[in-house]
Amino acid sequence: MGDGPSIVGIGGTTRPGSSTEMLVRAVLGECEMLGAHTQMFAGAELLALPHYNPGEPQRTDGQRALVEAARGADGFVIGTPGYHGSVSALVKNAIDLLEDTRTDARVYMDGCPVGQIVSAAGWQATGVTLSALRDIIHSLRGWPTPIGIGVNTIVQRPFDESGAIIDESIAGAVKLQAQQVMEHVRGTHMRRAAK
Ligand SMILES: Cc1cc2nc3c(=O)[nH]c(=O)nc-3n(C[C@H](O)[C@H](O)[C@H](O)COP(=O)(O)O)c2cc1C
Repeated sequence: MGDGPSIVGIGGTTRPGSSTEMLVRAVLGECEMLGAHTQMFAGAELLALPHYNPGEPQRTDGQRALVEAARGADGFVIGTPGYHGSVSALVKNAIDLLEDTRTDARVYMDGCPVGQIVSAAGWQATGVTLSALRDIIHSLRGWPTPIGIGVNTIVQRPFDESGAIIDESIAGAVKLQAQQVMEHVRGTHMRRAAK
């Protein structure tokens, strides 16, 4: 693991070529350009997580990896598809696992910037899912970045066949979200150093 702030990406679907996953990876890539090291928990990793069960203390390797990454994170990027008008169960299950940090000195995402991404097949689900995701982040004491990225895959084509972003407005939003995550992290580090 390199130097620099740690930014953890969570999100995607089980679909090969998941646009949600690609968008989260794109923001993480921009964060890396700005000096971060990143870790990604995408569809395959999220699918391997058991249903979160507060009564079950045993953890799988995958669950431990996600919780440890979250504990060491300076910032997050969370991406979800809009499924039936909200955050997908796959992504919410991973988020619920952060309950394991409830008694840590730093609980949940306390003080961390959190970029949000939604991919859906219509504007209505894009908007309401983004709003739901922001509410979830607030409940985890995270700071949703001012810019949330919502992509309507019916009318927007974010990537070309090589995986490069070809939509200028999405490319701009991806860059801006990464900048906002990194500026928040650096501000937090400066405030801590000044104490
Ligand atoms: C179970 C399921 C429910 C969905 N519900 C909605 C929905 O309510 N509104 C919508 O706009 N799109 C809905 N979609 C479409 C997905 O949000 C959309 O295809 C999204 O871009 C998929 O993301 P991906 O490319 O990461 O797989 C649904 C898809 C599935 C499989």
